[in-house]
Amino acid sequence: MKSICINNNIHYVGVNDRKKHLFENNWPLPYGVSYNSYLIKDTKSALIDTIEYGSNDNYLNNIERILEGSPLDYLIVNHMEPDHSSMIECVLRRFPDVKIVGNAQTHKILKLYFNIPDSSLLVVKDGEVLDLGEHKLSFHFIPWVHWPETMVTYDQTTCTLFSCDAFGGFGTLDGSIFDDENDFEGHYKAEMLRYYSNIVGKYSNMVQKAFAKLQGVEIKMIAPSHGLVWRGNPGRVLELYSKWCNWESEKGVVIAYASMYGNTEQMADLIGAKLGAKGIPVRTHDVSKSHVSYMLADIWKTKGLILGTCAYNTQMHPMMEHLCNEIKLIAPKDKVLSVFGSSTWNGAGVKALVKYAPEMGMEITGTPLEIMGSATFDKLDKAADEFVEQFIAAL
Ligand code: FEO
Repeated sequence: MKSICINNNIHYVGVNDRKKHLFENNWPLPYGVSYNSYLIKDTKSALIDTIEYGSNDNYLNNIERILEGSPLDYLIVNHMEPDHSSMIECVLRRFPDVKIVGNAQTHKILKLYFNIPDSSLLVVKDGEVLDLGEHKLSFHFIPWVHWPETMVTYDQTTCTLFSCDAFGGFGTLDGSIFDDENDFEGHYKAEMLRYYSNIVGKYSNMVQKAFAKLQGVEIKMIAPSHGLVWRGNPGRVLELYSKWCNWESEKGVVIAYASMYGNTEQMADLIGAKLGAKGIPVRTHDVSKSHVSYMLADIWKTKGLILGTCAYNTQMHPMMEHLCNEIKLIAPKDKVLSVFGSSTWNGAGVKALVKYAPEMGMEITGTPLEIMGSATFDKLDKAADEFVEQFIAAL
């Protein structure tokens, strides 16, 4: 494997994973994912985070080759989730004298996973500095971005922020690891939003606190644990994260519907067409076909949300219930929500959606649009006009 020096003896030693289908066994990876790890070679050497166990057999050999016979002095553990930490024991076996650097909470979690002697642990405090020689590393705790122990490491010498999950994204690093040598607008931007909304978004309040903590820190490069290394324009990713963690949404509406025999689907299309005719961008998902991961990303960035369901066993459709439950978990804010649906005898689906809205931290705007039986144009047209009018007024 070719070693990539990102700056002043900081080497990228991360790997691409194109084999895994689902991140956290939940989120699709059509473009794969990278586990980024960095090796700083100085008077003292430091490895920052590891990779997921089994994702690459050459990881340790590569580190050893770059070290050219000198020891590995420190392994800095920014985050204990196993996609970054599951190689810790292997690193310790290969470099028995390495000190594992983390905060008190890191080491508490570390002991739940590995049998590592206390003599191998170095506990750091918030803001503490580790002197490697030329590079001076400071540690800044950013709890819950994305586990309680998470911290970032800042190299004061090169102004590089090793940001862990923050500013990361799905997608392998093909050809180049750098933002300025890749087409971010291609698929990386969408994959970064999907990563944010699916993995980190729930902790947006904590992301805001992390931002506040890093206020005034000069950042020339952002080296996250997944996705592109921000060398050319780190301000771009800071700007995007600032927007996403403050729930700043774009104009538009996501319509997500569950339909068994096409009536609720026809309602979705009619509502979508009426919104489109008013110049409002619409993205429509059939919840039984779109993976929830993509729906959450669209919902995160869009102001309007319209959910529709047929009645199913006196409830909403189970796939709609799955989406609602996921929305509840990631808790997006400042959405305008309305609901619609069809039934044959008692409107149970729409009733269930109305009942579930507060669970998602949302209020229903306007009057839900409901029909019984077939979704004919005559039955729907006027009512859909009113429904859309009420919705647009609240957008
Ligand atoms: Fe990439 Fe929270 O681990």
